[in-house]
Amino acid sequence: MAAADLAADARILWRLLRGQPKTGSHAERLQAFYAPQADRYDAFRARLLHGRQALIERLELQPGARVVELGCGTGSSLQRIGERAAQFASFDMVDLCPALLDVARQRAAGFERIRVIEADATTWQPDQPVDFVFMSYALTMIPDWSRVIANAEAMLAPGGRIGVVDFHLPEDGNWLGNQLWRTWFGHDGVHLSGEHLPMLKRLFAERSCTERRAPVPYLPGFRAPYYLFIGERQRKTGESGEVATSQSGELPEWLRKKVA
Ligand SMILES: C[S@@+](CC[C@H](N)C(=O)[O-])C[C@H]1O[C@@H](n2cnc3c(N)ncnc32)[C@H](O)[C@@H]1O
Repeated sequence: MAAADLAADARILWRLLRGQPKTGSHAERLQAFYAPQADRYDAFRARLLHGRQALIERLELQPGARVVELGCGTGSSLQRIGERAAQFASFDMVDLCPALLDVARQRAAGFERIRVIEADATTWQPDQPVDFVFMSYALTMIPDWSRVIANAEAMLAPGGRIGVVDFHLPEDGNWLGNQLWRTWFGHDGVHLSGEHLPMLKRLFAERSCTERRAPVPYLPGFRAPYYLFIGERQRKTGESGEVATSQSGELPEWLRKKVA
């Protein structure tokens, strides 16, 4: 790694060692924590936040779909989605931290149907039901995480899909290991839990779920546990709903089965 990159990493590590401020509102703490890191956020997190590309692939985002990302940060998902983002009917990227949203806005410039929105993921709702909602490493940073999951369910059209990738405390993790990760991440306002995945599995029909471990920068020999979950919002009795069609006007195969 070049000396300039090492120096930039050192700045990020210093922030992480200082931890997230303990005073102020949730939004103020996020801003104070992330503003000094915003320019180097993506480069460092590329080595820390694993499974984000796999999340996008497993979601099978369709042209013509209405898509929401909650806790979008710098909007780096746009890099992973690529050209397809221009084909969505809408893509709302929501976050509470102005410093990271500034970077997201630069990324989204030129995409007509992308909106970058400063709002709280526990309460924000789109104008109409959407086909896809996803979150990458956001749930663990939101104290009221169960409200975000419920809010995501509420904004999905019947048959719509949710995707989440995040750190967690696995059921088969040993007590000491789980304590280590809880404390390590908790210092930076990242709250690992063993309850996120069970709630996702209770609320949504599971399409796929994978639990893995991945390396942590500058922590040789340690691998942090994370999961990748894809689920579907079930149609409730007597409920009708509109779901995304492809650009040709035909329903994608997976949605056709849902509404048949
Ligand atoms: C670890 S970052 C992940 C960012 C991005 N999804 C990524 O993969 O790089 C967590 C994000 O959640 C956002 N966040 C935390 N609480 C939030 C809330 N209540 N509403 C919206 N976003 C929130 C933070 O500002 C931050 O951008």
